[in-house]
Amino acid sequence: MHTRTIRKAVFPVAGMGTRFLPATKASPKEMLPIVDKPLIQYAVEEAVAAGCHEIIFVTGRSKRSIEDHFDKAYELETELALREKHTLLETVQNILPAGITCLYIRQAEALGLGHAVLCAQAAVNNEPFAVVLADDLIDAPQGALKQMVDVYRATGASVLGVETVEPSQTASYGIVEVADWQQCQRVRSIVEKPKPEDAPSDLAVVGRYVLTPRIFELLAGLGRGAGNEIQLTDGIAKLLEYEPVLAHAFTGTRYDCGSKIGYLEATLAYGLKHPETGAAFRELLRRYAAEQ
Ligand code: G1P
Repeated sequence: MHTRTIRKAVFPVAGMGTRFLPATKASPKEMLPIVDKPLIQYAVEEAVAAGCHEIIFVTGRSKRSIEDHFDKAYELETELALREKHTLLETVQNILPAGITCLYIRQAEALGLGHAVLCAQAAVNNEPFAVVLADDLIDAPQGALKQMVDVYRATGASVLGVETVEPSQTASYGIVEVADWQQCQRVRSIVEKPKPEDAPSDLAVVGRYVLTPRIFELLAGLGRGAGNEIQLTDGIAKLLEYEPVLAHAFTGTRYDCGSKIGYLEATLAYGLKHPETGAAFRELLRRYAAEQ
């Protein structure tokens, strides 16, 4: 029996981010800001809110800015202190709350999400853990991951964060087929990026997972799947043969920041509710709407 506490969260951040080129040529897509915070910081905050203490980044080339972002910045802090910019100083000092540790693992080859998660095996070891994909930004009460961790705590089963998508969009997601099970939805099957005509449903896995450590041995035995990559979805399909896996339709709004339009929508939504920009931004939008 594993512990029912989720202490570790894995952040696969080695992807190329080709959809945002040239912005992502020298800087990772996870560092793209929504108003004033990079995507990866929202994701880490969500994991910390869910109770995770160990943040495991699976990184690749050109990802140094992520390490720098979560590191102490002596020069900047000294400068802000000298200029008496106390609020900003506090902001940069509190990016990571006390007691949270970060670990960086290099994924030498980008062989897919399943491979990225497998790279974290030695760091996670034999305990349940979370996987968070930072380009799915989720605005949710307490955070989507906390909601899923609560389901894990109550059931001991792996939990996938899901939402309904347009049937025409199934080829962008892992799609699950579910059956009711003790007030939850138990996953019966899962398939990576099926064409709409082959999709078992319109219930898509978005970038949040709570997984039992058995997933590692299953990922290790996998060949390449969709897109010629080692797919986390295929590992989960194997996991279903051994354990129940639950689909949790979290309460909250997800923004697909892996696409330009989703990224713009997130900027719009967060810009409107940001205490510094909200009012002026609303006014700006009114002006633009009137000009149309
Ligand atoms: C990955 C997963 C997919 C999941 C999606 C969520 O795909 O492979 O199963 O539905 O994240 O965002 P990607 O978006 O990296 O192609």
